[in-house]
Amino acid sequence: MSKVIQISHPLILHKLSFIRDKNTGSKDFRDLVSEVAMLMAYEVTRDVQTTDIEIETPICQTTCKTLAGKKMAIVPILRAGLGMVDGMLNLIPAAKVGHIGLYRDEETLQPVEYFCKLPQDIEERDVIVVDPMLATGGSAADAITLLKKRGARNIKLMVLIAAPEGLKAVMDVHPDVDVYTASVDEKLNENGYIVPGLGDAGDRLFGTK
Ligand code: PRP
Ligand code: URA
Repeated sequence: MSKVIQISHPLILHKLSFIRDKNTGSKDFRDLVSEVAMLMAYEVTRDVQTTDIEIETPICQTTCKTLAGKKMAIVPILRAGLGMVDGMLNLIPAAKVGHIGLYRDEETLQPVEYFCKLPQDIEERDVIVVDPMLATGGSAADAITLLKKRGARNIKLMVLIAAPEGLKAVMDVHPDVDVYTASVDEKLNENGYIVPGLGDAGDRLFGTK
């Protein structure tokens, strides 16, 4: 059974308040989303395996830890997921980046796929799917289904803000996928936007609309 892990570190909550504020412009919004993604990456990678290495300090020989070398992939859901990639790569520079293009039809709220390019060895990698918003959950659930069809097995989902409806939808379809979020908000409104949320993440990141 999958878990919801809420990362409520004070630094993240502080930055999230500015991200939510409608008066925050695109440049600050982008910087803050990237910073929060980096801070969340710290928690999402908590269970990455390490192995012992022998090194010599200036004083003596000692046994230390190093990453065991399990390969990772970061997979943003376009467009808004792109805003989280650089922050994560700051912490996990060796990760490869796949892209899944999905947009939500404004009438039906159903996700429509338009792009998919993944590392060719995706089935060997631990995959972190990133998107700032988990609203109905349709986009994330479809992205994960697509990844599984390409052979990915070990998948986590990392979002900034989740609606309870979206969490349930993803966990019903993908009970093997843990979801990391900085906030579980109240609900969806009649247009499928998260309340209180932050508005349209893609538009705020890229200054569209
Ligand atoms: C937003 C967001 C998610 C999706 C969430 O993308 O970035 O991908 O909506 O909604 P859901 O959980 O109901 O599927 P959008 O479709 O607006 O595309 P964009 O990132 O290109 O703006
Ligand atoms: N997509 C967004 O960008 N924001 C929402 O609140 C819901 C879906």
